[in-house]
Amino acid sequence: MPDGDDEERADRAGAVGSAGSSGARPAASPTLPASRELPLFAELPELAGQVPWRPLAHAPTPVVPCGAIEGYLGRGGVWIKRDDLSSPLYGGNKVRRFEFLLADAERRGARTLVTVGGLASTQVTATALFGRALGFAVTAVLFDQPISRFGRSALLADAASGAELVHGGGYATTAFRAIRALRRADRPYFILPGASSALPCLGYVDAMLELAEQVRRGEAPRPDRIIVPSGTGGTLAGLALGAAVLGWPTTIVGVRITDRIASNRTIVRYEIGSMKRLLARRAPRFARRRLPPVRFEIDHRAVGPGYGMPTPASLAAIPEVERLIGVPGEVTYSAKALAALRGIGQEHPRETILLWQTLSSARPALAEGGAAALPPGFARFFEGDVAF
Ligand SMILES: Cc1ncc(COP(=O)(O)O)c(C=O)c1O
Repeated sequence: MPDGDDEERADRAGAVGSAGSSGARPAASPTLPASRELPLFAELPELAGQVPWRPLAHAPTPVVPCGAIEGYLGRGGVWIKRDDLSSPLYGGNKVRRFEFLLADAERRGARTLVTVGGLASTQVTATALFGRALGFAVTAVLFDQPISRFGRSALLADAASGAELVHGGGYATTAFRAIRALRRADRPYFILPGASSALPCLGYVDAMLELAEQVRRGEAPRPDRIIVPSGTGGTLAGLALGAAVLGWPTTIVGVRITDRIASNRTIVRYEIGSMKRLLARRAPRFARRRLPPVRFEIDHRAVGPGYGMPTPASLAAIPEVERLIGVPGEVTYSAKALAALRGIGQEHPRETILLWQTLSSARPALAEGGAAALPPGFARFFEGDVAF
């Protein structure tokens, strides 16, 4: 079942779930919280019980000033929202989304999560780890991207989770193999690359409301600008809609890390529109609200030749990410975001800027034995040294 039409899906399921409730399956791991309060349900009480949701995230995640980064950026006034700490199982920006998405899979009685992503995809790793922890079988079809140290670790983490890994190769063969995997899976639930449809992206509307509570408590100033890597635009869209719900004038900047076809204004506007429609249907009072314009920008300068491809600035930023922020420095997400933050920070010296940290700092267990732990199609990704 495609992860596309959440509204229709929620309608058909008569989907339910609420703050503090857990889904149909017991959490099989002590790393999953038993409950938590969702700011989104506090803001829109009608919504609780009308959308599937189960707790997975350890939130609120800290928001901290990052003094260490000031020398690198050449300015102060930069804060970090530590979504890298959103779960000790595997943090990052999929956890809040999976609270909705995997609850939906549970409601529908799915047994197998089928997903697609690049060799180094964090979405695949998150699907594998959270899916297995909740008792699903997981099949991931992986398309080729430049292999890196981070990519090798991601593959070994995926293998250690017990997920079935299928080498997809190019985009066309990956699509074909994903369809084949869906056909033979037991009660499949399909998760699109990036998991960026309306229902899961509510997780980042909620995250923005969480930040607002932290600002109200005096833990951080209200940022003028928030920087977040943008792959499929879902995190950016959720934060931007969240800022509009709050009436904040904050500009959310997506640092594009994928090709323009995957991350562009039209897609982000579409994602915002689908979330608004979903909210209006599930919480009719939301439909009567007058929201200010949603403010977001996409910065296209950091991506270089493409998804996962190195650029001189991102290669230089890799060790800085590790040293200054403490999350893995890798070329696809964290290094490009940091390199972009430096440029944007210098262009807007008077603004308070917040970097939304989206890559897990929890490092999952890796399968032992290297390439031997994976199907033979992956062997070539473990040959020789990698440059970055
Ligand atoms: C670490 C990290 N940051 C940012 C992104 C981009 O998120 P989105 O697809 O919501 O734009 C991803 C997506 O996979 C990610 O893994």
